[in-house]
Amino acid sequence: MLVFVPPHPLINHWLAIARNAMTPPSIFRSTLGELGRLLIYEAARDWLPTFSAEVEGPVGTATVEMVDPNQPIAVVPILRAGLVLLEEAKTVLPVTNTYHLGFARDEETLEAKMYLNKLPSQFPEGQRVLISDPMLATGGTIVKAIDECVSRGAKVSDIRVVCVVTCPPALTVLSDKYPGLRVYAAMIDEELNDAGYIIPGLGDAGDRAFG
Ligand code: PRP
Repeated sequence: MLVFVPPHPLINHWLAIARNAMTPPSIFRSTLGELGRLLIYEAARDWLPTFSAEVEGPVGTATVEMVDPNQPIAVVPILRAGLVLLEEAKTVLPVTNTYHLGFARDEETLEAKMYLNKLPSQFPEGQRVLISDPMLATGGTIVKAIDECVSRGAKVSDIRVVCVVTCPPALTVLSDKYPGLRVYAAMIDEELNDAGYIIPGLGDAGDRAFG
């Protein structure tokens, strides 16, 4: 498994705003949107299907490369907080289909339970899938989300995960289970506390985004 933490002052800046407990919900949402844009930009760098064409410009013909409109990226936001990370950032990708997944973690057992699944019954061969969730903590939620995609025909090597913060427990689970996976994160934090919160993390991103 490959984990990318792009070294970029803008990512660090918006991460700082997201970490600040004084950041109000509206700013927290737009901040996650900025982080989503930057991280999706990185995740898309060597991934989007493209084609070559010629366009007539005002003073000449140019050979151009464009994103293939016939191969939309399947974007899978994990509700609730993954929706914020993706929804305001999706314009980075010219062609997408969105399939929502809803998971809620039991506060006692930390087990993730799915309450919404809008995935198609089968993905087409070679479908690229981008999953967004700001936090990978125990890894339980993202594992279930990936398994749902794989059970519908997506290959792990065609799946990319965009998150804001993660930590060693989640990365260990993911690398053991999905060697071909790629994860894009703004930061890898040091630890997970007994309550299942990444430290220093973002707190409860869903509550911070939606109140
Ligand atoms: C949070 C977070 C992840 C999950 C991470 O969601 O957004 O989805 O917990 O935890 P895990 O890696 O230990 O499974 P939460 O269940 O709080 O739902 P919410 O986004 O609706 O607040």
